[in-house]
Amino acid sequence: MALDRFGRNIHYLRISLTDHCNLRCIYCMPEDQTFRPNKDLLQDDEILTLAHLFASLGFDKIRLTGGEPTVRANVVEIVRGIAAVPGIKSISMTTNGVLLARLAQPLKEAGLQRVNISIDTLDPVKFKRLTRWGKLDDVWQGILAAEQAGLTPIKLNAVVVKGYNEEDVIDLAALTLERNWQMRYIEMMPFAGVTDVQTQQIITAAQIQQKIESEFGPLELTGQYDGEARIFRIHGAKGELGFISSVTVPFCSACTRARLTADGVLRMCLLREKEIDLLTPMRSGATMDDLRALILDGVWNKPWGHGLDQGLIPLNRVMNQIGG
Ligand code: 5AD
Ligand code: SF4
Repeated sequence: MALDRFGRNIHYLRISLTDHCNLRCIYCMPEDQTFRPNKDLLQDDEILTLAHLFASLGFDKIRLTGGEPTVRANVVEIVRGIAAVPGIKSISMTTNGVLLARLAQPLKEAGLQRVNISIDTLDPVKFKRLTRWGKLDDVWQGILAAEQAGLTPIKLNAVVVKGYNEEDVIDLAALTLERNWQMRYIEMMPFAGVTDVQTQQIITAAQIQQKIESEFGPLELTGQYDGEARIFRIHGAKGELGFISSVTVPFCSACTRARLTADGVLRMCLLREKEIDLLTPMRSGATMDDLRALILDGVWNKPWGHGLDQGLIPLNRVMNQIGG
Protein backbone atom coordinates (compact mmCIF):
# COMPACT_ATOMS: atom_id res chain seq x y z
CA MET A 1 0.00 0.00 0.00
CA ALA A 2 1.38 3.45 -0.93
CA LEU A 3 0.53 5.93 1.81
CA ASP A 4 1.14 9.65 1.77
CA ARG A 5 2.18 11.62 4.84
CA PHE A 6 -1.44 12.56 5.52
CA GLY A 7 -2.50 8.90 5.65
CA ARG A 8 -4.20 8.83 2.27
CA ASN A 9 -3.89 5.47 0.48
CA ILE A 10 -2.83 6.38 -3.05
CA HIS A 11 -3.96 3.55 -5.31
CA TYR A 12 -5.49 5.18 -8.39
CA LEU A 13 -3.16 5.90 -11.31
CA ARG A 14 -4.18 7.96 -14.32
CA ILE A 15 -1.87 7.19 -17.22
CA SER A 16 -1.75 9.66 -20.09
CA LEU A 17 -1.03 7.73 -23.29
CA THR A 18 -0.28 10.79 -25.41
CA ASP A 19 -0.47 14.57 -25.32
CA HIS A 20 -1.76 14.53 -28.90
CA CYS A 21 -5.42 15.14 -29.65
CA ASN A 22 -7.73 15.17 -32.64
CA LEU A 23 -9.70 18.13 -31.19
CA ARG A 24 -8.65 21.51 -29.75
CA CYS A 25 -11.22 22.30 -27.04
CA ILE A 26 -11.05 25.97 -26.13
CA TYR A 27 -10.81 25.26 -22.38
CA CYS A 28 -7.98 22.77 -22.83
CA MET A 29 -5.43 24.12 -25.27
CA PRO A 30 -4.63 26.95 -27.66
CA GLU A 31 -5.43 26.35 -31.34
CA ASP A 32 -1.76 26.30 -32.34
CA GLN A 33 -0.75 23.80 -29.63
CA THR A 34 2.29 21.74 -30.61
CA PHE A 35 2.81 18.19 -29.36
CA ARG A 36 5.80 16.21 -28.18
CA PRO A 37 7.64 13.96 -30.64
CA ASN A 38 6.92 10.29 -30.08
CA LYS A 39 10.44 9.49 -28.90
CA ASP A 40 9.87 11.76 -25.90
CA LEU A 41 6.78 9.79 -24.87
CA LEU A 42 6.71 6.60 -22.87
CA GLN A 43 7.01 3.67 -25.29
CA ASP A 44 4.60 0.72 -25.04
CA ASP A 45 7.04 -1.46 -23.09
CA GLU A 46 7.88 1.42 -20.74
CA ILE A 47 4.19 1.93 -19.96
CA LEU A 48 3.82 -1.76 -19.14
CA THR A 49 6.94 -1.80 -16.98
CA LEU A 50 5.59 1.13 -14.98
CA ALA A 51 2.11 -0.40 -14.75
CA HIS A 52 3.64 -3.52 -13.18
CA LEU A 53 5.69 -1.39 -10.83
CA PHE A 54 2.73 0.71 -9.67
CA ALA A 55 0.60 -2.43 -9.26
CA SER A 56 3.30 -3.96 -7.07
CA LEU A 57 2.98 -0.89 -4.84
CA GLY A 58 -0.74 -1.40 -4.35
CA PHE A 59 -2.18 0.63 -7.23
CA ASP A 60 -5.27 -1.30 -8.37
CA LYS A 61 -7.22 1.23 -10.40
CA ILE A 62 -6.05 2.64 -13.73
CA ARG A 63 -7.59 5.26 -15.97
CA LEU A 64 -6.13 5.97 -19.40
CA THR A 65 -6.20 9.62 -20.43
CA GLY A 66 -4.58 11.94 -22.96
CA GLY A 67 -4.59 14.30 -24.76
CA GLU A 68 -6.83 11.81 -26.49
CA PRO A 69 -5.86 8.24 -25.59
CA THR A 70 -7.48 6.67 -28.65
CA VAL A 71 -5.13 8.47 -31.06
CA ARG A 72 -2.19 6.57 -29.58
CA ALA A 73 -0.91 3.87 -31.92
CA ASN A 74 -1.45 0.40 -30.42
CA VAL A 75 -3.99 1.64 -27.88
CA VAL A 76 -5.84 -1.68 -27.95
CA GLU A 77 -2.65 -3.64 -27.29
CA ILE A 78 -1.65 -1.30 -24.48
CA VAL A 79 -5.06 -1.85 -22.84
CA ARG A 80 -4.64 -5.60 -23.22
CA GLY A 81 -1.23 -5.44 -21.58
CA ILE A 82 -2.37 -3.32 -18.64
CA ALA A 83 -5.53 -5.37 -18.10
CA ALA A 84 -3.34 -8.44 -17.67
CA VAL A 85 -1.14 -6.89 -14.96
CA PRO A 86 -1.69 -8.79 -11.70
CA GLY A 87 -3.41 -6.63 -9.10
CA ILE A 88 -5.17 -4.26 -11.50
CA LYS A 89 -8.89 -4.49 -10.68
CA SER A 90 -10.27 -1.56 -12.60
CA ILE A 91 -9.30 -0.14 -15.99
CA SER A 92 -11.18 2.69 -17.64
CA MET A 93 -10.58 5.50 -20.12
CA THR A 94 -11.46 9.17 -20.51
CA THR A 95 -11.98 9.94 -24.19
CA ASN A 96 -13.53 12.52 -26.49
CA GLY A 97 -15.37 9.65 -28.18
CA VAL A 98 -14.51 10.68 -31.75
CA LEU A 99 -12.90 7.32 -32.59
CA LEU A 100 -15.03 5.10 -30.35
CA ALA A 101 -17.45 4.02 -33.06
CA ARG A 102 -14.74 1.71 -34.36
CA LEU A 103 -12.65 1.23 -31.21
CA ALA A 104 -15.27 0.52 -28.53
CA GLN A 105 -15.62 -3.19 -29.32
CA PRO A 106 -11.88 -3.97 -29.66
CA LEU A 107 -11.14 -2.00 -26.48
CA LYS A 108 -13.78 -3.93 -24.57
CA GLU A 109 -12.41 -7.21 -25.85
CA ALA A 110 -8.91 -6.15 -24.77
CA GLY A 111 -10.13 -5.71 -21.20
CA LEU A 112 -11.26 -2.09 -20.91
CA GLN A 113 -14.17 -1.91 -18.47
CA ARG A 114 -15.65 1.59 -18.81
CA VAL A 115 -15.32 4.93 -20.57
CA ASN A 116 -16.03 8.54 -19.66
CA ILE A 117 -16.87 10.46 -22.81
CA SER A 118 -16.66 14.25 -23.10
CA ILE A 119 -19.70 15.95 -24.59
CA ASP A 120 -20.25 19.60 -23.74
CA THR A 121 -23.38 20.34 -25.79
CA LEU A 122 -25.92 18.59 -28.03
CA ASP A 123 -25.86 21.45 -30.55
CA PRO A 124 -23.54 20.62 -33.50
CA VAL A 125 -22.70 24.28 -34.15
CA LYS A 126 -21.77 24.98 -30.54
CA PHE A 127 -19.89 21.68 -30.37
CA LYS A 128 -17.77 22.77 -33.29
CA ARG A 129 -17.11 26.14 -31.69
CA LEU A 130 -16.03 24.53 -28.40
CA THR A 131 -13.80 21.89 -29.96
CA ARG A 132 -12.67 24.15 -32.84
CA TRP A 133 -13.45 21.51 -35.48
CA GLY A 134 -15.18 18.50 -33.90
CA LYS A 135 -18.27 16.81 -35.39
CA LEU A 136 -20.90 16.11 -32.73
CA ASP A 137 -22.26 13.11 -34.62
CA ASP A 138 -18.89 11.29 -34.35
CA VAL A 139 -19.12 11.56 -30.58
CA TRP A 140 -22.76 10.51 -30.51
CA GLN A 141 -21.99 7.40 -32.57
CA GLY A 142 -19.07 6.77 -30.22
CA ILE A 143 -21.33 6.90 -27.15
CA LEU A 144 -23.80 4.46 -28.71
CA ALA A 145 -20.97 2.12 -29.72
CA ALA A 146 -19.54 2.22 -26.18
CA GLU A 147 -22.92 1.33 -24.73
CA GLN A 148 -23.40 -1.48 -27.21
CA ALA A 149 -19.93 -2.86 -26.49
CA GLY A 150 -20.73 -2.95 -22.77
CA LEU A 151 -18.31 -0.21 -21.69
CA THR A 152 -20.85 0.62 -19.02
CA PRO A 153 -22.10 2.38 -16.99
CA ILE A 154 -21.72 5.18 -19.53
CA LYS A 155 -20.50 8.41 -17.99
CA LEU A 156 -20.52 11.67 -19.91
CA ASN A 157 -18.46 14.73 -18.98
CA ALA A 158 -19.23 18.34 -19.79
CA VAL A 159 -16.97 21.26 -18.97
CA VAL A 160 -19.21 24.33 -18.72
CA VAL A 161 -17.94 27.61 -20.18
CA LYS A 162 -19.68 30.97 -19.96
CA GLY A 163 -20.62 32.23 -23.41
CA TYR A 164 -20.27 28.78 -24.97
CA ASN A 165 -22.51 26.12 -23.41
CA GLU A 166 -24.02 27.31 -20.13
CA GLU A 167 -27.55 26.95 -21.51
CA ASP A 168 -26.81 23.49 -22.87
CA VAL A 169 -26.55 21.89 -19.45
CA ILE A 170 -30.33 21.46 -19.57
CA ASP A 171 -30.46 19.41 -22.79
CA LEU A 172 -27.59 17.30 -21.52
CA ALA A 173 -29.43 16.66 -18.25
CA ALA A 174 -32.53 15.63 -20.20
CA LEU A 175 -30.54 12.72 -21.68
CA THR A 176 -30.77 11.02 -18.29
CA LEU A 177 -34.58 10.99 -18.32
CA GLU A 178 -34.70 8.04 -20.70
CA ARG A 179 -31.17 6.68 -20.53
CA ASN A 180 -29.29 5.04 -17.72
CA TRP A 181 -26.27 7.32 -18.19
CA GLN A 182 -24.44 9.49 -15.72
CA MET A 183 -24.12 13.09 -16.92
CA ARG A 184 -21.36 14.90 -15.08
CA TYR A 185 -20.70 18.63 -15.07
CA ILE A 186 -17.15 19.78 -14.45
CA GLU A 187 -16.04 23.18 -13.24
CA MET A 188 -13.42 24.54 -15.57
CA MET A 189 -9.96 24.55 -13.97
CA PRO A 190 -7.12 26.94 -14.80
CA PHE A 191 -3.85 25.80 -16.37
CA ALA A 192 -1.30 27.32 -18.71
CA GLY A 193 -2.11 28.00 -22.35
CA VAL A 194 -5.65 29.31 -22.12
CA THR A 195 -5.66 30.65 -18.56
CA ASP A 196 -7.75 33.73 -19.42
CA VAL A 197 -10.71 31.71 -20.70
CA GLN A 198 -10.44 29.33 -17.76
CA THR A 199 -10.47 31.98 -15.06
CA GLN A 200 -12.88 34.48 -16.61
CA GLN A 201 -15.51 32.18 -18.09
CA ILE A 202 -15.96 29.68 -15.28
CA ILE A 203 -19.48 28.64 -14.23
CA THR A 204 -19.62 27.09 -10.77
CA ALA A 205 -21.20 23.72 -10.00
CA ALA A 206 -23.78 25.55 -7.86
CA GLN A 207 -24.75 27.77 -10.80
CA ILE A 208 -25.03 24.75 -13.10
CA GLN A 209 -27.24 22.93 -10.61
CA GLN A 210 -29.45 26.01 -10.25
CA LYS A 211 -29.91 26.22 -14.00
CA ILE A 212 -30.89 22.54 -14.21
CA GLU A 213 -33.30 22.88 -11.29
CA SER A 214 -34.98 25.88 -12.92
CA GLU A 215 -36.03 23.46 -15.66
CA PHE A 216 -36.60 20.14 -13.87
CA GLY A 217 -37.38 21.16 -10.28
CA PRO A 218 -35.29 20.26 -7.23
CA LEU A 219 -32.82 17.45 -7.87
CA GLU A 220 -32.89 14.42 -5.62
CA LEU A 221 -29.63 13.88 -3.76
CA THR A 222 -28.75 10.19 -3.92
CA GLY A 223 -26.34 10.60 -1.02
CA GLN A 224 -23.61 9.00 -3.11
CA TYR A 225 -20.28 10.22 -4.27
CA ASP A 226 -18.82 8.65 -7.37
CA GLY A 227 -15.15 9.50 -7.04
CA GLU A 228 -15.17 13.25 -7.01
CA ALA A 229 -18.73 13.69 -8.30
CA ARG A 230 -21.70 14.36 -6.04
CA ILE A 231 -24.60 12.36 -7.46
CA PHE A 232 -28.17 13.59 -7.98
CA ARG A 233 -31.18 12.45 -9.97
CA ILE A 234 -33.97 14.30 -11.75
CA HIS A 235 -37.21 13.00 -10.23
CA GLY A 236 -38.19 9.84 -12.14
CA ALA A 237 -35.10 9.81 -14.37
CA LYS A 238 -33.33 6.59 -15.35
CA GLY A 239 -29.85 8.09 -15.20
CA GLU A 240 -27.97 10.35 -12.81
CA LEU A 241 -26.35 13.76 -12.70
CA GLY A 242 -22.96 14.45 -11.13
CA PHE A 243 -21.31 17.73 -10.19
CA ILE A 244 -17.55 18.02 -9.99
CA SER A 245 -16.68 21.19 -8.12
CA SER A 246 -12.90 20.93 -8.17
CA VAL A 247 -12.48 24.71 -7.98
CA THR A 248 -15.18 25.87 -5.54
CA VAL A 249 -15.46 22.80 -3.27
CA PRO A 250 -12.26 20.77 -3.65
CA PHE A 251 -12.25 17.07 -2.74
CA CYS A 252 -8.51 16.96 -1.98
CA SER A 253 -8.84 15.32 1.45
CA ALA A 254 -10.31 12.22 -0.20
CA CYS A 255 -7.93 12.19 -3.19
CA THR A 256 -6.30 8.81 -3.89
CA ARG A 257 -4.79 9.71 -7.26
CA ALA A 258 -1.47 9.96 -8.95
CA ARG A 259 -0.87 10.87 -12.57
CA LEU A 260 1.70 9.56 -15.00
CA THR A 261 2.12 11.95 -17.92
CA ALA A 262 2.73 10.75 -21.47
CA ASP A 263 6.37 11.86 -21.16
CA GLY A 264 6.88 9.72 -18.10
CA VAL A 265 6.58 12.20 -15.27
CA LEU A 266 4.77 11.44 -12.03
CA ARG A 267 2.49 14.26 -10.98
CA MET A 268 0.89 13.88 -7.56
CA CYS A 269 -1.57 16.77 -7.89
CA LEU A 270 -3.28 17.87 -11.09
CA LEU A 271 -3.12 21.49 -9.95
CA ARG A 272 0.40 21.65 -8.51
CA GLU A 273 3.53 22.07 -10.62
CA LYS A 274 5.73 19.62 -8.72
CA GLU A 275 6.76 16.61 -10.84
CA ILE A 276 8.97 13.53 -10.51
CA ASP A 277 10.67 12.44 -13.71
CA LEU A 278 10.60 8.65 -14.10
CA LEU A 279 11.43 8.39 -17.82
CA THR A 280 14.95 9.84 -17.66
CA PRO A 281 16.13 7.51 -14.88
CA MET A 282 14.37 4.58 -16.55
CA ARG A 283 16.26 5.24 -19.80
CA SER A 284 19.57 5.71 -18.04
CA GLY A 285 19.65 2.39 -16.26
CA ALA A 286 17.75 2.89 -13.01
CA THR A 287 16.81 -0.40 -11.36
CA MET A 288 13.23 -1.32 -10.43
CA ASP A 289 14.18 -0.62 -6.82
CA ASP A 290 15.42 2.88 -7.75
CA LEU A 291 12.15 3.59 -9.56
CA ARG A 292 10.11 2.15 -6.70
CA ALA A 293 11.88 4.48 -4.27
CA LEU A 294 11.23 7.50 -6.52
CA ILE A 295 7.52 6.65 -6.70
CA LEU A 296 7.15 6.03 -2.98
CA ASP A 297 8.92 9.29 -2.20
CA GLY A 298 6.61 11.14 -4.61
CA VAL A 299 3.54 9.55 -3.05
CA TRP A 300 4.72 10.34 0.48
CA ASN A 301 5.13 13.99 -0.48
CA LYS A 302 1.81 14.29 -2.33
CA PRO A 303 0.58 17.85 -1.77
CA TRP A 304 -2.37 18.17 0.56
CA GLY A 305 -4.42 20.09 -1.96
CA HIS A 306 -4.40 22.71 -4.65
CA GLY A 307 -3.76 26.40 -4.13
CA LEU A 308 -6.29 27.93 -6.49
CA ASP A 309 -7.89 29.93 -3.67
CA GLN A 310 -4.49 31.56 -3.08
CA GLY A 311 -4.19 32.34 -6.77
CA LEU A 312 -1.69 29.53 -7.40
CA ILE A 313 -2.35 28.32 -10.94
CA PRO A 314 -0.15 25.54 -12.35
CA LEU A 315 1.54 27.01 -15.41
CA ASN A 316 4.17 24.46 -16.35
CA ARG A 317 1.80 22.34 -18.44
CA VAL A 318 -1.30 22.71 -20.58
CA MET A 319 -4.15 20.35 -19.61
CA ASN A 320 -3.49 17.86 -22.41
CA GLN A 321 0.13 17.51 -21.24
CA ILE A 322 -1.04 16.30 -17.84
CA GLY A 323 -4.06 14.14 -18.57
CA GLY A 324 -7.40 15.10 -17.06
N1 5AD B 1 -11.00 22.20 -16.70
C1 5AD B 1 -11.69 21.08 -16.40
N2 5AD B 1 -11.69 19.98 -17.17
C2 5AD B 1 -10.98 20.03 -18.31
N3 5AD B 1 -10.80 19.10 -19.27
C3 5AD B 1 -9.97 19.63 -20.20
N4 5AD B 1 -9.60 20.89 -19.86
C4 5AD B 1 -10.23 21.17 -18.68
C5 5AD B 1 -10.26 22.29 -17.84
N5 5AD B 1 -9.60 23.41 -18.11
C6 5AD B 1 -11.45 17.78 -19.25
C7 5AD B 1 -12.19 17.40 -20.49
C8 5AD B 1 -12.18 15.91 -20.41
C9 5AD B 1 -10.94 15.59 -19.69
C10 5AD B 1 -9.89 15.06 -20.60
O1 5AD B 1 -10.48 16.79 -19.08
O2 5AD B 1 -13.46 17.81 -20.60
O3 5AD B 1 -13.32 15.42 -19.74
FE1 SF4 C 1 -8.57 16.99 -26.73
FE2 SF4 C 1 -9.79 16.38 -24.42
FE3 SF4 C 1 -8.28 18.59 -24.61
FE4 SF4 C 1 -10.61 18.48 -25.90
S1 SF4 C 1 -10.30 18.40 -23.68
S2 SF4 C 1 -8.63 19.21 -26.77
S3 SF4 C 1 -10.71 16.39 -26.49
S4 SF4 C 1 -7.55 16.52 -24.77
